[in-house]
Amino acid sequence: MPIDTLISAEDIQARVAELGRQITADYGGQEIVVVPVLKGSFVFAADLVRHIDVPLAIDFLGLRSYEGTESSGVVQITSDLTKSVEGKHVLIIEDIVDTGLTMQYLLQNLETRKPASVKLASLLHKPARSKVKIPIDYLGFEIEDVFVIGYGLDYDQHYRNLPYLGVMRPE
Ligand code: IMP
Repeated sequence: MPIDTLISAEDIQARVAELGRQITADYGGQEIVVVPVLKGSFVFAADLVRHIDVPLAIDFLGLRSYEGTESSGVVQITSDLTKSVEGKHVLIIEDIVDTGLTMQYLLQNLETRKPASVKLASLLHKPARSKVKIPIDYLGFEIEDVFVIGYGLDYDQHYRNLPYLGVMRPE
């Protein structure tokens, strides 16, 4: 299937660098725990942390909420954090907030672990599909209601390696 470019690699890189500068300024040297949500955010997280200049640790969290292109509505932790985040400043890194159900679940779940603070950086947001309001502290791009692939995002596990964000065009 042909793929149309939605956001170029250059535009993504420029925005990610901006977000990193903003995050660096906001935390003002405080130590943080960066929590990329697997799998989709691994590319965004890898680029973003290289623009964050505060002491940080990384701990991954695996979540599954999707089958194909439709939310199953059920969120499952497939791989949990390896360390306690009690008393820590947590920065969640997500690829996309779509209906918001996944993030709602994760924010509630993390709250029970008593972190000092929780903030969210999401590369993308599709406001047209929101079912719950999620506060996104650092947002890369707001996009239309289209299914996007690339830069970590998949369609049935494919296309995560594209350096840009694209949309599949049905022929
Ligand atoms: P939500 O629970 O509907 O907000 O879904 C969040 C998760 O669904 C994201 O972390 C993605 O893994 C996946 N997702 C939502 N929209 C897209 C898309 O357009 N392309 C690829 N994955 C998506």
